[in-house]
Amino acid sequence: MVDLLRGRRLEDIDPLALDYTASIKQDAPLLNPVIAINKAHIISLFEAGLLEREKASQILKALDVIQVTSLDTRVEDVHMFVEQLVKEKVGSIGGFLNLGKSRNDQVSTAIRIVVRESILDLIVSLINLTNLLQLKAAENIDKVMPSYTHLQVAQPITAAHWLLAYENMLKRDIDRLFQNYERVNSSPMGAAACAGTTLNLDRYFEAELLGFNSVVANSLDAVSSRDFLLEYMWVLSSIMLTISRMSEDINFMCNNEVGVIKVPDAYSSTSSAMPQKKNSVVTEISRASSAMVASNLFGAMCVYKGLPLSYNLDLQEITPKAWESYERAKKSLEVFTRLLAGLEFDEKRGEEVLIQNFSTAMELAEYITIKVGVPFRDAHHLVGSYIKRCIENRIAPASKNAYEVLVEELGKYTSKVMRFDDYLAIIDPKGSVIKKTIYGAPTPSNTEKMIEERRQQNLKYMKAIEQERERLGKASSMLEDKVKKIIGGEKS
Ligand code: ARG
Repeated sequence: MVDLLRGRRLEDIDPLALDYTASIKQDAPLLNPVIAINKAHIISLFEAGLLEREKASQILKALDVIQVTSLDTRVEDVHMFVEQLVKEKVGSIGGFLNLGKSRNDQVSTAIRIVVRESILDLIVSLINLTNLLQLKAAENIDKVMPSYTHLQVAQPITAAHWLLAYENMLKRDIDRLFQNYERVNSSPMGAAACAGTTLNLDRYFEAELLGFNSVVANSLDAVSSRDFLLEYMWVLSSIMLTISRMSEDINFMCNNEVGVIKVPDAYSSTSSAMPQKKNSVVTEISRASSAMVASNLFGAMCVYKGLPLSYNLDLQEITPKAWESYERAKKSLEVFTRLLAGLEFDEKRGEEVLIQNFSTAMELAEYITIKVGVPFRDAHHLVGSYIKRCIENRIAPASKNAYEVLVEELGKYTSKVMRFDDYLAIIDPKGSVIKKTIYGAPTPSNTEKMIEERRQQNLKYMKAIEQERERLGKASSMLEDKVKKIIGGEKS
C-alpha cells in the first residue's frame, strides 16, 4: 500500500497515530456517495475543458468498476481509498481525481448524500408508524382508559386519544425531517479545502449531477459546518424521546397493578427465577436507546462548539455518532411498529380504575356549578370533601352511600338537590368522554375527524417522498448517462 499524501513533505506516520486519526473503519456508508461525487467531479472537469476526454474516460471507467466488500483499513479514509483504487487501475492519471476538490468539501457532500437517503427512509418509517396509530385509534375509538397527571389518575380518555397524542407528536417529527432535508440538500462541492479553487468549475452543474437543490454559498461555511447534521441528530433524538415516553406509558400501564394495556408476548420476556413474570423488555430497551441517541447529539455539540473556522479533523468524530443514532432510531421505529400492532387495551379494567379513582370529579364540580349554581371553587371544595369521606370510609363511588355523602356536602351550600340517576351518569367514564366535545378532546366524533385529517396528511407526505425519490433517481441517471457518454466517446 502506498501513502498517496505524505509524498515528499512528511516522514512516515506512526501506525498508532494513523489508527488514532483514521476514519476508514467508520467510513463504509460514505463509499458509494464518494464514488458518485468523484464521477460528478470528473464530468465537471471534463465539461469545463480542464480534463481531456481520454483521461476523464479512463478515470470514470475505473470508478465505475469499483466493487468492494470492505474498505482497506490501512488507508486513512474512504476518500484516499477510492483515489488509491483508481490509481491502481489507471496509474498516475488517477492523480487528476483530486483536482479542484478536497476531502473537506467531499466529506461534507458525502455525509449529506447519506443523510438525505436516511431522512427519506425515516419519514417512510414514521408514516408507517403513524398510519398504524391511526388504524389502532379507529379500532379503539370509544374504549375508555385513564389519563394521568403527576402519574395519578386524572380524567377518562379513550385509547384512541392516547394513541393519537403520540401520532401528533411523531407527525411533527415528519415535518422536522422535511425541513431538515432542505438544509441537508445543498452541495459543498467547489469549496475545495476551504477557499474554493482557481479552476473555472460550475458548482451548480456538479450539484445538479448529485441531486442537490442548491450549493452552500460560502466556502468556509461549506467545509466546516455540520449544523445540518446536528439538526438531523436532534430530530432523531426527538423521535426517540417520543418513543421513549410512549414506552414509559406502556411500561406503567401494563404493570399488573394498573393493567390497562396488554403488551404482546412476542415483545415481552420472563424472569429466569420468577415464573410469574411478564416483563415488557422492548419498551425498556427503547427507553435506554433514546438516551444513547440524545447523548450522541450532546457529544456532537460538545465537539462542535469550540471549533475555529474552517475544517478541523474533530468533525470526523461526529459522523459515526450520526450513523449510530440513525441505526438506533430506525430499529426502534421498526420494532415499535410491530409491538404496537399487537397492543391491546383492557376497557373493563380501564373503567374500574377510572371509577375507583373518582376520575370524573371535575365533571361533577362543573355540573354542580352549571346546573345547581354553586361557584366553581365551592363546588371543587365540596366534591373534594365528598371524595375524602368516601376514601376514609371505603365507600365505593358508584354506590347509593357515596351519593348520599355528596348530597350531604351539597346541602352545606344549597338547598337544591341532585338526582341519583344524574349522579350515576356523571361518574360514568364513557359518558364523560362522550360529553367532552370541545376541539381537541377525546369524544369519538372529534377523533373520527382527526383520524381522517391525519390519514390525508400521510398520503400527501408519501406522495412528496415518491416525488423526491423520483427526482433523485433522475439525477443519478443523468450522472450515469454522462459517464457512459464520456466513456463511449459521444458528445455529452
Ligand atoms: N476523514 C475525514 C472526515 O471524515 C475527511 C476529511 C479529512 N480532511 C483532512 N484535511 N484531513 O472528516
